[in-house]
Amino acid sequence: MDSIKIRGGQELKGSVPISGAKNSALKLMVATILSDEPLILGRMPDLADTRFLTTLLQHFGAEVSRDGDTMRLHTQRIENAEAPYDLVRKMRASFNVLGPLLARNGEARVSLPGGCAIGARPVDLHLKALEALGAEIELTEGYVEAKAPKGLQGGQVTFPFVSVGATEHAMLAAVLARGETTLENAAREPEIVDLADCLNAMGAKVSGAGSATITIQGVGSLSGAAHAVVPDRIETGTYALAAATAGGDVLLKDAVWKHNEALWDRLEKAGAAVAKEDGGVRVRAKRGRLAATDIETRPYPGFPTDEQAQFMAAMTVADGRSVIRETIFENRFMHAPELMRMGAKIDLRGNEAIVTGVETLRGAQVMATDLRASVSLVIAGLVAAGETTIGRVYHLDRGFEGLEAKLAACGADIERVKD
Ligand code: EPZ
Repeated sequence: MDSIKIRGGQELKGSVPISGAKNSALKLMVATILSDEPLILGRMPDLADTRFLTTLLQHFGAEVSRDGDTMRLHTQRIENAEAPYDLVRKMRASFNVLGPLLARNGEARVSLPGGCAIGARPVDLHLKALEALGAEIELTEGYVEAKAPKGLQGGQVTFPFVSVGATEHAMLAAVLARGETTLENAAREPEIVDLADCLNAMGAKVSGAGSATITIQGVGSLSGAAHAVVPDRIETGTYALAAATAGGDVLLKDAVWKHNEALWDRLEKAGAAVAKEDGGVRVRAKRGRLAATDIETRPYPGFPTDEQAQFMAAMTVADGRSVIRETIFENRFMHAPELMRMGAKIDLRGNEAIVTGVETLRGAQVMATDLRASVSLVIAGLVAAGETTIGRVYHLDRGFEGLEAKLAACGADIERVKD
């Protein structure tokens, strides 16, 4: 298994090109199931997760090819409407194929995804939304068997709490349902807006994306389209935190300022300078240590759970005590014990981590546990004295395109060690 080696202590200076958002790209790729015409996706990140989803879509009958950062997907016919456990368990986002398969094909059989390292992550809201659209759903032997023999019909869905995946899943099914669908208490993440824009380019009628109420007028069929994936706000936030922690001055090229306002607010409070510039966002580290700053994760536009681990890494070397509260997932502090192996002082109390900043971390051998946890260890490694080796980097490869190259180009001493 590959590992990443970092010799800490270098400031980051230069620019980082921000890739297309993984969490948007995955849902946009799924949209190919809804049309028999080609879907062309630009700014498509090349990640383990996008490659994996390619395999799943090919299993349904899609033709998928890539040229640079442009992906072409074409699903002329659905040849197979079953997503087996082996394909779904590796990546939860693959569960989102259920609604589109059902909408296009009238029936589908998709494995339930199961839990994952950051929490139980049930799919009850996804299933309730599909039922509100007229799907008949049965759970047998770990599979969801869904039927809509006369097609899906528009319905009213009120989510009891905000779910990104369930909102997207409902959108992906409702675009081909007969009549009007209303989604209340919908997620407002930029990825939702990106999905609505892509579906509308395909001829769907989705309005209100980005607000808590989304209205969808179903259409009989969708056409092909070309759409560019939104820049990755989580990758943006990660490199912003890397620069603010390791020191230096970095331009995050193509980053969208308004997609990370909660982070900019916290970073400024901690003493870093962040500025919107033509072509991106610039982050300049503070001289000396960041000031300890609290965060609480919330659905967008609140502070993203996908940036919590990276923020915690920054706070391990801040001046003072910060409280980090995680409210989205029940088990998302697995990076804390690894950070402690590097000398961080963290007291875990339920969904709160109390971080008392230390002057220096020390390099160590650490283990990645999930995607965002592993990149928090990279940030810690960049500022730690000595050498840090991060194992299980396949977690990083799921969601960060060219991580070592992007950091090395800004002066980091980082390399991948192949096994
Ligand atoms: C998406 O997951 C992202 N994944 C996650 O990013 C991200 O952390 C999360 O949204 C929150 O922003 C993708 O887009 C592929 P949710 P999703 O449904 O859609 C509970 C990463 O590192 N819930 O908004 O699965 C759920 O357990 C990943 O890139 C139910 O109870 O998140 C969680 O506590 C990790 N029942 C909360 O809702 C349901 O049916 C919010 O989850 C659905 C969700």
